[in-house]
Amino acid sequence: LAMGALAKAVALAPDSWIPGSTPDPLIRRRSGHTGKPMSRLDGPLKVAGQARFAAEIALPGMAYAALAHATIAKGRITALDTAAAEAAPGVVLVMTYRNAPRLQRPPVFMSSAKAAWGDDLPILQDDQVRWNGQPIAVVVAETQEQADHAASLVTAIYAEEPAATAFAEAKSKGSSPGSFMMQPLHNESGDAEKALAAAHFRVDATYTTPRHNHNAIELHGLTCAWEADGTLRIHDASQMVAHEAWTLARIFGLAEEKVVVTSPFVGGGFGGKGLWQHQVLAAAAAKLAERPVRLLLPREGVYRLVGGRAQTEQRVALGADANGRLTALIHTGFTAKPPASAMPEPFIVPTRSAYAAGAMLLDVQVVEVDGLSNTFMRAPGEAVGTFAVECAIDELAEVAGIDPIELRIRNEPDKDPVSGLPFSGRNLVEAYRLGAERFGWDRRSPAPRSRREGEWWVGMGCATGTYPYYRMPGGAARITLTAEGATVDIAAHEMGMGTATAATQVAADRLGLDPAAITFNYGDSTLPGTVMAGGSQQTASIGASVVAAHRALVAELVKLAGNDSPIAGAKPDELSCRDAGLCRADNEAAYESYASILARANRPSITVEATPSMPFEMMHWSMHSHSAMFAEVRVNAVTGEIRVSRFLGSFDCGRILNSKTAASQFRGGIIMGLGLALMEETQFDARTGRIMNPSLAEYHLPVHLDVPDIEVIWTDIPDPHTPMGARGIGEIGITGTGAAVANAVYNAVGKRVRDLPITLDKLL
Ligand code: MOS
Repeated sequence: LAMGALAKAVALAPDSWIPGSTPDPLIRRRSGHTGKPMSRLDGPLKVAGQARFAAEIALPGMAYAALAHATIAKGRITALDTAAAEAAPGVVLVMTYRNAPRLQRPPVFMSSAKAAWGDDLPILQDDQVRWNGQPIAVVVAETQEQADHAASLVTAIYAEEPAATAFAEAKSKGSSPGSFMMQPLHNESGDAEKALAAAHFRVDATYTTPRHNHNAIELHGLTCAWEADGTLRIHDASQMVAHEAWTLARIFGLAEEKVVVTSPFVGGGFGGKGLWQHQVLAAAAAKLAERPVRLLLPREGVYRLVGGRAQTEQRVALGADANGRLTALIHTGFTAKPPASAMPEPFIVPTRSAYAAGAMLLDVQVVEVDGLSNTFMRAPGEAVGTFAVECAIDELAEVAGIDPIELRIRNEPDKDPVSGLPFSGRNLVEAYRLGAERFGWDRRSPAPRSRREGEWWVGMGCATGTYPYYRMPGGAARITLTAEGATVDIAAHEMGMGTATAATQVAADRLGLDPAAITFNYGDSTLPGTVMAGGSQQTASIGASVVAAHRALVAELVKLAGNDSPIAGAKPDELSCRDAGLCRADNEAAYESYASILARANRPSITVEATPSMPFEMMHWSMHSHSAMFAEVRVNAVTGEIRVSRFLGSFDCGRILNSKTAASQFRGGIIMGLGLALMEETQFDARTGRIMNPSLAEYHLPVHLDVPDIEVIWTDIPDPHTPMGARGIGEIGITGTGAAVANAVYNAVGKRVRDLPITLDKLL
């Protein structure tokens, strides 16, 4: 997810953790809570049904909302009949563009990125239809059933305009250069086409990936109310509470502090739980109805309203010398994007740092389609980009007669091929070595269609996964210390991935406290900080903020401790924390407890707030998480049915902060990658641009029986240039997985499927 999504201006703070200078002392400590498989702190609440999600919160006098959606791709509403809906039982209000409160357009976070999550289109402000599925009416009623029924009675007549709804057709009309995070999606060095033509070994193929929809288990929904003092309070499922509050304040013309967004529990985000029209519509309806409103989108509503991963068509052409060294690497292609949408699928991003190649040409062209905005979806760019490139590497390995792992090792870059920066940490070869040994790669036959067990062809494949390290300026964290423990406040997010647990472990080690003595408060826009759960960077971002606050705390404690303390006069860098107190780093016996310092200063508590440095580390190093993915598949010789029978992910993501929650993150990413490889596909009616399979019955995702035992291992080599030595783990699991499966399918049956998903019909 994007750096481009950051919204609030973050002032350049005094350096508190200087990227790349002294490694965080925690990196050197192996004995604490960090790294341990601590169970999720929110787990018991969820298991007991006591965690209340956004659309489970009941407010007094609350009414229920439902949406009616446009059924054309583009045009104008010429007649909108709401009379039947208004007369239906229990209906409180029908809101359309005619009576909706006048709203500002969603503000532009950064001019080139537009609104980060989707688009900046006006919301129920005019008679224009801009995509098939756009909300045209909000019905508010006494019960959900009444609202749903009444919404079904809203009818519209349209004046349709010609629309580009099919990717292929739109592409034939031309394209324009893409950019991502304010950088052109284009890189070039040398004459790659010429090098390709002259290469000893060559592959040149086109790979296509379909539209994908977000399918978090928790549907998108919120409960909201306008309070007596004019505060708009939103209980939401959000990956960005601070940004959401900021944006809603501008849309409704309110002071920033008049919007409060809370989101303590999120049932899956994956890039989809941003700000979409439904939050704005619910708040507007609540204002008009003068009642609290709950709007929970049904699954179909999520498909109509919440953007997904864009289609791509990618060419990968590789040229190599007789030893398999790349002389040409071409990765170019097209992605679909509605005009108002924020982001093209940046599929070349992982390729920039993947391989040392003589000449390189990378390019993303944008094709404009009239449809629902596309958006971030777990490893946008990397998930589909690695599918194309890592399949092509496998194809080259076969042409060159070199083992695919060996081919990759021969092309390992010693510095970033595009930026020229050194890698902050890259142990991909080690990840391959560990993974290959564990997976039994030596049992793979290089010749496809050579292993059969009964009705099943068996194949093995591998691929490299990668995801960039990001750290967004996450703003401040606040620490309050008492004799009993500490409270850490930061407007961060827990979407089920274990962020709060890992943050608690790290804070406990940092403060020298038991995790039970730490209270980590998050998911509330009134807390300090602007951290966003995206780009696999939240934990690093929280970490940097906590490091900053902790240093401020230590400085404050030294001041309070005065001249009589064993730590008198020490600088923060010379101190460390143990046993609920401070000691000198070079002499642990020179120690004073927090309780003693506070008591002597006659203070019940101290509170500090501090902001970390900007993410300068990203300018000095090429920073990425890496993985080596291994798949074994079985393809039924009679039916073409594909079963993934084994999978192993070998990760190099810096230091792992919680081995239990990290393993789940890796597995979850891999499972999502299995869906990308074999199942997921949003299907459009090409005539109308309407999504035809807006349900889990027809949009297929892996279920338990589709998922084999997934083994995950990691190098656990700390990155010296990140807070806590950790790089991101949230998105990398999906990357490389599609290609590992596709390469295994090829090894099983000898057929290359370059068009996702790999369904059985494509093998027959
Ligand atoms: Mo993500 S696609 O950065 O939530």
